[in-house]
Amino acid sequence: MEKKKIDWENLGFSYIPTDKRYVANFKDGKWDDGALITDANIVMNECAGVLQYAQTIFEGLKAYTTEDGHIVAFRPDLNAERLVNSAKRLEMPPFPAERFVDAVVQVVKANAAYVPPYGSGATLYIRPYMFGINPVIGVKPADEYQFRIFTTPVGPYFKGGVKPLTICVSDFDRAAPHGTGHIKAGLNYAMSLHAIVTAHANGFDENMYLDSATRTKVEETGGANFIFITKDNKVVTPHSDTILPSITRRSLLYVAEHYLGLEVEERDVYLEEVKEFAECGLCGTAAVISPVGKVVDHGKEICFPSGMEKMGPTIQKLYDTLTGIQMGHIEAPEGWIKVI
Ligand code: PLP
Ligand code: COI
Repeated sequence: MEKKKIDWENLGFSYIPTDKRYVANFKDGKWDDGALITDANIVMNECAGVLQYAQTIFEGLKAYTTEDGHIVAFRPDLNAERLVNSAKRLEMPPFPAERFVDAVVQVVKANAAYVPPYGSGATLYIRPYMFGINPVIGVKPADEYQFRIFTTPVGPYFKGGVKPLTICVSDFDRAAPHGTGHIKAGLNYAMSLHAIVTAHANGFDENMYLDSATRTKVEETGGANFIFITKDNKVVTPHSDTILPSITRRSLLYVAEHYLGLEVEERDVYLEEVKEFAECGLCGTAAVISPVGKVVDHGKEICFPSGMEKMGPTIQKLYDTLTGIQMGHIEAPEGWIKVI
């Protein structure tokens, strides 16, 4: 199959429409069979639930070309499961997990010409999402929903690739206790937009959100979880009910323990102790692992010993092992790689 003529090496993280998208409709209490379609536009009523009350959830995963030329997706079953959890929290009908994985396979196959070649540094980003589509004016869940998946080829999420980032402790909160921080709902991202625009205007790459109850504990950023390395080489990551349970983070903790023989701790991480860590990174599907060089807390700088030039040594090992598994030159744990 001939690849599209795209400058793969210089892609950023932006939307490029591809040939096919998957769509399934929920109506009269059931999902239809679903199909691949070509139209990238959606027509809906002015009063659609998603437009009025933001009833929308999504996922993000990637397809890769492996060293030996296969197209694979990374742990799509976990995205399926997380979308089910998100749906339940927003009173939406879950899209069946096994159909989710099948739909991912269909849509990636149909857009195989857009899956970046091995070694290009780019990947095919897969965006499953679902939303309430029928008119809703009183505050209540919609009765009809659409589940869709589109794909788009992407490069690094942060400009500058793997250059260490500078992040600031945000004065805004991302998630409330007992709220929706643990699900992947559009509303969590809408309310982070002012915070990210403010952070960028002040010269920072991202925000560090704190727990909104006490504002003493590290939560996550707008689009990735934190991972820290202690001076004695332990991997530490915040435990919280109000952050998104990152699939990348879960995978990295496994890799740290089982591939690199490192001790891992998922626990409360206090802002006060951040200055003690040797390395810091942001992990997520889009971010992969992006190193953090500096955290700024209201003018007070916390500089990690790993510096502003390159990834710290342990984060680099985690990065190499995880991407090695995804690209097929390191053997993956059972069930992590879905061959398309
Ligand atoms: N946290 C937030 C708020 C995110 O949007 C994402 C991205 O999906 C993550 C963390 C990382 O999750 P994952 O590794 O499953 O992509
Ligand atoms: C992802 O990593 O898939 C996300 O959804 C994060 C988003 C901020 C692009």
